[in-house]
Amino acid sequence: MELTVQLGDRSYPVFLNDSRSLPDVLKSRFPDRGFALVTNTTLARLYEKKLAGLDRALGPVRHVIDDGERFKTVATWQAVLDTLLCSRLDRQAVVLAFGGGVVGDIAGFAASAFLRGVDYVQIPTTLLAMVDSSVGGKTGVDHLTGKNRIGAFCQPRMVWIDTRFLDTLPEREFVGGCAEVFKYGFIGGAEMFAFVVAGREKILGRDPALLLDAIEKSIRIKAAIVAEDERESSGKRSLLNFGHTFAHALETYYDYDKLLHGEAVLWGMACAVELGLRAGTVPAESRAEYAAFCDHLPRIQLPSRPSAGDLYAGMFADKKAAAGKIRFVLPAQPGTSVLRDDMAKADVLAAIEAVLDRTSP
Ligand code: NAD
Ligand code: GLY
Repeated sequence: MELTVQLGDRSYPVFLNDSRSLPDVLKSRFPDRGFALVTNTTLARLYEKKLAGLDRALGPVRHVIDDGERFKTVATWQAVLDTLLCSRLDRQAVVLAFGGGVVGDIAGFAASAFLRGVDYVQIPTTLLAMVDSSVGGKTGVDHLTGKNRIGAFCQPRMVWIDTRFLDTLPEREFVGGCAEVFKYGFIGGAEMFAFVVAGREKILGRDPALLLDAIEKSIRIKAAIVAEDERESSGKRSLLNFGHTFAHALETYYDYDKLLHGEAVLWGMACAVELGLRAGTVPAESRAEYAAFCDHLPRIQLPSRPSAGDLYAGMFADKKAAAGKIRFVLPAQPGTSVLRDDMAKADVLAAIEAVLDRTSP
């Protein structure tokens, strides 16, 4: 199946479970080009044979980064650039990002900077990367002051999704990826809301047909949003941050260590719904529907109970806090969300406390 991210002359295809071989597609779309492949230690080990096939067909320069969000740093990015700069590659190079969101974000950012920018291809291997980070051109690394604070918008030339990679994905990572699928239920329209409500158990159970459908629907929604607001300037793309304002504060609180990104997003979505219910963005007739939806989302158990005040303070460091105001994405009619920067601190704290009561020791 081929989907397209429509961005004029920068439009690109997203191939989903294409029957052709990846090296053949790369060779035909990028003839006579030099390749570099960026991956991490875990994937280099798990997919040794597949990568050897790519080596034989394309002879890419390879750079393997350490595994983990804590390595999503300027230092790792610079090391990728060192490899590219010390190789035979020129401006015709194509960088292949083979991995989850961490590899994709770093490799894409390196491609955006190498010789002032070269092409790159996303080959996502986690569910999260398939439905979210590989599409849309946000690249970058973390900084001590917050997540993804250094980076560039740089669209890939192609995205290659093979859901067989999910066979080796650990369960926790898979559930974390489901968080981003469920997120589209809050912003992708009434039909997506209904699809997620009806299908969440089977999606979580890795039902192949439903999972493929969920991935396709998620990419279509993301591609449409990116096409409309590529640089997050009109507010439309900000809707993709549903649950993320809370999630980023929680991840920062735990030093990106104890929780996965997707787990933090699940927790953050519960906070967003709680705040939406308190602030009245959820219409009265939909309250029960939202409450039931949230009851059936996987419940994250936190390792400790953070202080709601600390999390609130952490939100001001997030990119989404503009001019001293925290911007929230809150649920409205099922399948739609709204941006609000006028939430009373007391309501935010109460929403966080309510979710902490359900999720902390
Ligand atoms: P990740 O890249 O750290 O991958 C999660 C873990 O799964 C890692 O240990 C990895 O080695 C392992 N893994 C990956 N694929 C595997 C496979 N097929 N089999 C077995 N193990 C595998 O994390 P992620 O959840 O993919 O991505 C999270 C990152 O993505 C965060 O840094 C987040 O900020 C970023 N992100 C970016 C965007 C964007 O638009 N650019 C959107 C959402 C998230
Ligand atoms: N994941 C948020 C975005 O791509 O804008």
